[in-house]
Amino acid sequence: MTTTKTTDVCTIAQMSEQGVYPSDEQRHSFAKRLLTWFELHGRHGLPWQYHHQPSADIYAVWVSEIMLQQTQVVTVLKFFEPFLARFATVQELAVADWQEVASFWAGLGYYARARNLHAGAQQVADFIDTHGRFPETVNEWQAVKGVGRSTAGAIVAMGVKKFGVICDGNVKRVLARHRAVFGDVTKSATDKRLWEIATALTPKEYSGHYAQAMMDLGATICTRTQPKCHLCPVTDDCIAYVLGVQSQLPVKKKAPPKPHWHSIALSLTHCGLTLWLHRQNGGGIWDGLWSLPIFMLPLDDNQKLDNNTLSDAIFKAWQSDEKVHDLLHSQLIEILPIPTQTSTAYLRHTLTHVHWHLYGMSICLNNSQFNQINQTLTALGIDYLWKDAPYNLPLPAAMHKLLTLSNSSA
Ligand code: ADE
Repeated sequence: MTTTKTTDVCTIAQMSEQGVYPSDEQRHSFAKRLLTWFELHGRHGLPWQYHHQPSADIYAVWVSEIMLQQTQVVTVLKFFEPFLARFATVQELAVADWQEVASFWAGLGYYARARNLHAGAQQVADFIDTHGRFPETVNEWQAVKGVGRSTAGAIVAMGVKKFGVICDGNVKRVLARHRAVFGDVTKSATDKRLWEIATALTPKEYSGHYAQAMMDLGATICTRTQPKCHLCPVTDDCIAYVLGVQSQLPVKKKAPPKPHWHSIALSLTHCGLTLWLHRQNGGGIWDGLWSLPIFMLPLDDNQKLDNNTLSDAIFKAWQSDEKVHDLLHSQLIEILPIPTQTSTAYLRHTLTHVHWHLYGMSICLNNSQFNQINQTLTALGIDYLWKDAPYNLPLPAAMHKLLTLSNSSA
């Protein structure tokens, strides 16, 4: 008796972790209902979509998929066409200078994507030289830098127009709800299960249309909060909908709280020119971009600092024996006076692993400080520029925002 009960409980628990695999009938009808809905209500006419055309520009689909990672369609719309106007082919992108590629990415954020796309273009151009064609299979695309399994599936389905399966975050949410997959989506067993379901539901024909439709359903109907189930074409057999548990799915282990960093971004000016530093080769997120010198303040507090606490924190940073984290900034601190005026701009910038509080401040340098800084930067081999305005420099998104705020408050 006891054994049976335990077994039942285990089976039920496993079933719900794994969800319910679609029947043959569902496999057929799910795509049909979704594609009918997509024709009427999906997003059409986006510049990277080719579903109504017999063939697609594989390169353009690839660029769009990379831009669309972690970025909203409305944002990508501003960057996609200028990028393709300048780098019209994979060969043009492959031979381009990184600085120029970065300048076309400025404001899109997550620069690692652009670096991978640039390196990937060199791989794909070589592939074309050898094979006389673009990569065409999911495996060939997954070998390209920055292209994961779902992006590879999207490129094959929508660009190559062959069978490809996507299972990104939005699709996982739709499937976890529809099939009641209660396993933690950050676990590999759940990921594997969702890929099996995604593969089973993807039609052999029109997988490109289907991919676009699933993305649209996830982005506009089956949203993380307040899904619009009354408008959804697949509610009839959506288990979460029938049980009323949409808000509980997908299950995702809570991420640990992000730390808070507080930093000042210093505008060091001399004769109307401001110092810009070129960060490179450290493997950091700002590699290849230009920024003001940034000084970390020794704090982890989730509140914006007021003028008093900011002055205290700056004072501590300047007096600390440990100084700031790298040689460059430690050496600059030795030269610079403690900034005393109030912050000209404040920005809270959230990255994948951190909330970053940035305070813009400026210091007018005297001739001696100006000369010492130039000598120090030259001795450290750091690229730098004195500029009246940072036009044409590829800047990180946070730096862009901070400058806009400083200008609007000036
Ligand atoms: N996110 C990733 N790829 C996308 C696409 N092709 N359309 C809309 N959102 C997306």
